[in-house]
Amino acid sequence: MTTSNILIEYRDQVACVTINRPDALNALNQATVAELTSTLRTLGASSEAKVIILTGQGEKAFCAGGDITFMRNLGPAGAREVALTADELFRTIEESPRVVIAAINGYALGGGCELAMACDLRVAAEGAQLGQPEINLGIIPGWGGTQRLPRLIGISRAKKLIFTGERISAQQALELGLIDQVVPAADLLEAAHALAQTIAAKPQTAIRMIKQAINQGVQMDLDKAVRFEAELFGMCFATKDKQEGIDAFFEKRQPQWQDC
Ligand code: CAA
Repeated sequence: MTTSNILIEYRDQVACVTINRPDALNALNQATVAELTSTLRTLGASSEAKVIILTGQGEKAFCAGGDITFMRNLGPAGAREVALTADELFRTIEESPRVVIAAINGYALGGGCELAMACDLRVAAEGAQLGQPEINLGIIPGWGGTQRLPRLIGISRAKKLIFTGERISAQQALELGLIDQVVPAADLLEAAHALAQTIAAKPQTAIRMIKQAINQGVQMDLDKAVRFEAELFGMCFATKDKQEGIDAFFEKRQPQWQDC
């Protein structure tokens, strides 16, 4: 399936969504944000793919950020609107019942880094560079960077990256906890696919609950969060997969998940 700015391929229960604007280093204009949002909503609602990989076309960039071209003549109200529209995309990813893996094949800057941070997991190619360079344009990160980056790597480290606009290597990003894995560029999609396959082979109802428990729980105080976890834990015990998983353990066989 192809829309004008993104490509979608399916393999073994995994959908690979590729931002396809390599001439602009896969920068996100409004049309691309809208296409990504609707594609991710559709993939979340369908059973065609259990896991989604998000990547950029070409060898140079995952996504070089929000499209600076249209930002040039943007006023305050328009910019606020752009931020809220992108937020819809990022929330779609975070609230998706599917695990979303960013395969970072090059620059992930500004809105590109913010997009990767909204994903559940991040695998990067060795040559990738990440950062929040908005300060160099006289603006601040507006697609969640000031909020998700400190949650991922800590307040002080996030401030340093955002104040300086510094670009960091994939290895540095790994050490900071901004990404989860670095692999040779030639192996990136296979590595992301292998991770996706491992997750696709697990019971998806429990995977969805884990995503919900973590994404919503980190926004609560601990008392509320552990109660929320207890609710979800209780709900697991109404699933066929819980019965199958525990029966399979005692019967010393591989479980056959039904994802319900
Ligand atoms: N928006 C629009 N076009 C972009 C772009 C962006 N974010 N980033 C790169 N491009 C375009 C360039 O204008 C250039 O187009 P032309 O060929 O028509 O001139 C093309 O992509 C290739 O880029 P470069 O020639 O600049 O490539 P390079 O290898 O010399 O440099 C780079 C690569 C370091 C990534 C550089 O392109 C760059 O600094 N890009 C901007 C990165 C950035 O500041 N991102 C933040 C954007 S603002 C934002 O994202 C705010 C937010 O929170 C949403």
